Amino acid sequence: MLTQVSRSEEARNILIQNDRGGYTIPTAGLYPYQWNWDSAITAMGFAEFDIGRAWQELETLFSGQWADGMVPHILFHKADAGYFPGPDVWGGTGPIPSSGITQPPVAATMARLIWNKDRSAGTPRLKTLWPKLRAWHTWFLKWRLDQGAVCVTHPWEAGRDNAPDWDGVMERIDPVGVGEYERRDTSHVDGSMRPTKHDYDRYIWLVQMGNRLKWDQAKLLEENPFRIADPTMTFLLLRAHRDLLAVGEELGLQTAGMAEEIALLEKGAATLWNPELKSYDSRDAKTGLWTGCISNASYLCWLAGLDSPDQAAHLERSLERVKFGVASYDPTGEKFDSKRYWRGPTWAFMNFLIGLGLEEQQHPLAPRLRAVTREVIRQHGFAEYFDPTDGSPAGGQSFTWTAAVWLGWASKDLGAA
Ligand code: DGY
Repeated sequence: MLTQVSRSEEARNILIQNDRGGYTIPTAGLYPYQWNWDSAITAMGFAEFDIGRAWQELETLFSGQWADGMVPHILFHKADAGYFPGPDVWGGTGPIPSSGITQPPVAATMARLIWNKDRSAGTPRLKTLWPKLRAWHTWFLKWRLDQGAVCVTHPWEAGRDNAPDWDGVMERIDPVGVGEYERRDTSHVDGSMRPTKHDYDRYIWLVQMGNRLKWDQAKLLEENPFRIADPTMTFLLLRAHRDLLAVGEELGLQTAGMAEEIALLEKGAATLWNPELKSYDSRDAKTGLWTGCISNASYLCWLAGLDSPDQAAHLERSLERVKFGVASYDPTGEKFDSKRYWRGPTWAFMNFLIGLGLEEQQHPLAPRLRAVTREVIRQHGFAEYFDPTDGSPAGGQSFTWTAAVWLGWASKDLGAA
């Protein structure tokens, strides 16, 4: 079995090998471009051994920011035929070829962590990045709120692609006219670990609709049947906005209005509490109906500064049910599928975000998250995700953000810098 030291060396090598010059791909083959939230987490990993490269990762991500403030979920820096759907299918309208949707905004939170590691190196970089982060957050506030909670407009936007949260809405979409296409993901990874064709038809149908509407947010608001207020986006934007305000104040930047925006997001987060489920849940913004899902995104509440004994009770039960939690979907739920992407597997970076929130609040469950994540990586390496019942590696291998999480969090003792 590999020792902790050799895992750390392996993790650094993964970041270096997946570096494509200023940005990092999540893994060769399956994901050959720059992904938004992957990059933010990756920057945190680079900060462990190359602080300049950490800032560069974020700067390259923001080089793809659109004129309206949106930061795309994929930047297609260099064409790669091994991925579908590519830039032509998306028809992104930004400064470099990109997708037309965004991803959960963790960049400000990671930027603050990186800045705190070395303020003299980071201050000029963060001062330049700050207005861009602000513009992105403002875009969310302008286009994506439902009662103050933040909505996703495509399953890929939440990053939790095939989570059961979306099943009801996806069922109602008739992907008429989607046409023939060739999936590339299942040529890299076993199909039983990936979304189904039923899901993919709808993913592509939604992309084609956005492309046809030239990603005009006002038109999409009218036409897009997929609009779900989601705990991933809501908790992560709330947290990121708190971080942005805190560093803005320290740097003496213009932060007017941000405290009110945070209060609005706090109200929005409260609307995601499903009293029947006794859990944070996603809500279909078109119908007002709950999706009825306890997911690992429900457990991001602590990172957003919100405590909940009921949510903690779910987390504890989940950790007891599977050996290598946190399962991405309730392991007692009917739809739990231990190897299929966001319907059960455990994701190291989500454990990191949940764990960070618990640690900040000195929650008694905090040490378990770090320990279980360390153990699954120590035993099974740097997979994209893991079967939470036995820890077996799944999805892509030599995965960048799993390596970053090892370096910046899981391999360290609680309380270590
Ligand atoms: C994919 O291609 O599976 C990605 O998750 C889309 O972002």
